[in-house]
Amino acid sequence: MNTTVVILAAGLGTRMRSKRAKVLHRAGGLALVEHVVSAATAVAPADRIVAVTGHQADEVETLLKPYGIDFVRQDGQKGTGHALACCRERLAGLDGLLMVLYGDTPLLSPVTLSRLKEVQETGATAATLITTTLDNPSGYGRVVLNALGDVTAIVEDRVCTPQQKTIRLINSGIYCFQADLLWKYIGSVTPNADSGEYYLTDMAEILTRQGHRVGAMHIEDPDELLGINTRVELADADRVLRERKCRELMLAGVTIERPETVTIDTHVQVGVDTVIEPSARLLGRTQIGEECRVGAGAIVESSVMENRTVVQPYSMVANSRIESGAQVGPFARLRMDAQVGRDARVGNFVELKKTKLGAGAKSQHLAYLGDSEIGAKVNIGAGTITCNYDGQKKHQTKIGEGAFVGTNATLVAPLEIGDGSYIAAGSVITETVPPGALALGRARQVVKPGWVEKRKKGS
Ligand code: UD1
Ligand code: CA
Repeated sequence: MNTTVVILAAGLGTRMRSKRAKVLHRAGGLALVEHVVSAATAVAPADRIVAVTGHQADEVETLLKPYGIDFVRQDGQKGTGHALACCRERLAGLDGLLMVLYGDTPLLSPVTLSRLKEVQETGATAATLITTTLDNPSGYGRVVLNALGDVTAIVEDRVCTPQQKTIRLINSGIYCFQADLLWKYIGSVTPNADSGEYYLTDMAEILTRQGHRVGAMHIEDPDELLGINTRVELADADRVLRERKCRELMLAGVTIERPETVTIDTHVQVGVDTVIEPSARLLGRTQIGEECRVGAGAIVESSVMENRTVVQPYSMVANSRIESGAQVGPFARLRMDAQVGRDARVGNFVELKKTKLGAGAKSQHLAYLGDSEIGAKVNIGAGTITCNYDGQKKHQTKIGEGAFVGTNATLVAPLEIGDGSYIAAGSVITETVPPGALALGRARQVVKPGWVEKRKKGS
């Protein structure tokens, strides 16, 4: 059966106490609503998924555009029933099933949505909703069942009688309707007497009154249904997503030491036999190959580590590439398209910015290499600095294959250093060095024998 999914994402989320729309807050390295969109793609093609936007609609739509889904604006956030009703004009012509998800339930699994669809397809109900039983149900709508186990009403927490408060069966906010019946009756939802909002949850009672059945699909893992209303719940969701990610990687052949300390974003990929040490952070769309090692406390963001590469502890790697066999760190920093060639070495307190270090090249200690192209097998001595900025513009440095740059060289860009040349330690180099040359750019040493004795005598 055709399935359309509507994701409600228009609310501000007052309980977050934030200027940002709730669904834009992040857990597991993605905005809450992105997790929901990903789960939705398991049951509907992108062109049958609609997000209802309102608060910071532009930001939410920009974020979700790459998923190829559609949008409907909700003007004035008058409740979940109103949000869905805003889609009527756009969607009422579509047959089949209509699934409603809330943008603040990021832990939902695609498997559960597929099950919900199946239950609704094979049952004789007008709608099915996902429920679970919670030890502490406060904040959630309570589900009232009849003797047959059908849902007859959903009562919101704030309007529950003391007796209804004791019901532990809760509404997850995930529903699957027969689309035609939903559109037929959505107009019957009236503003709640207490809050003035249109509650989508009233549909359970409305459908029942019209002689239709509403089913409940109970699921055992309540984690999956966590609705994020506060930053405490946001942290809970983040923890669950991190645990899931680590588990998935470990089962796929990655060693993670002390996984509870490690932060790995949802879209990160890691190859087999790679070892992730404690407190490492792997962020964005980072890709890590096989047999790599990420050291304790290292941060690797939106970068590629090819096979058998090592990032030693406490290094920061962002938007960069480390080619196979290369090693970086400890305490190194790569950023803005830095590229470390095959089997190259970058050691402690070395920073690479927009710099390509050739295969087998080495910069082992204390250097800044910016806007540079450094050939294969070059040796960069400790303390070398590329002076790439003249106060107005950035300039390039090119160092040819096999060159040897002595300790504490100051390379004033724009500059070209030829293949196989030598730069004497402590030099300030401002002019082109031809291939195979030795360049010295420093004051000659002066030695004055017996100078100390002479000074004592005051002469
Ligand atoms: C809702 C349910 C409650 C359920 C809980 C599950 C209603 C009335 N209540 O309560 O039964 O137990 O979720 O997590 O539906 N939204 C809009 N437009 C609006 C209002 C909300 O798009 O006008 C969106 C929000 O962005 C959010 C979602 O709908 O993603 C849910 O809204 P929220 O205010 O969090 O509902 P709850 O009070 O948690
Ligand atoms: Ca909620």
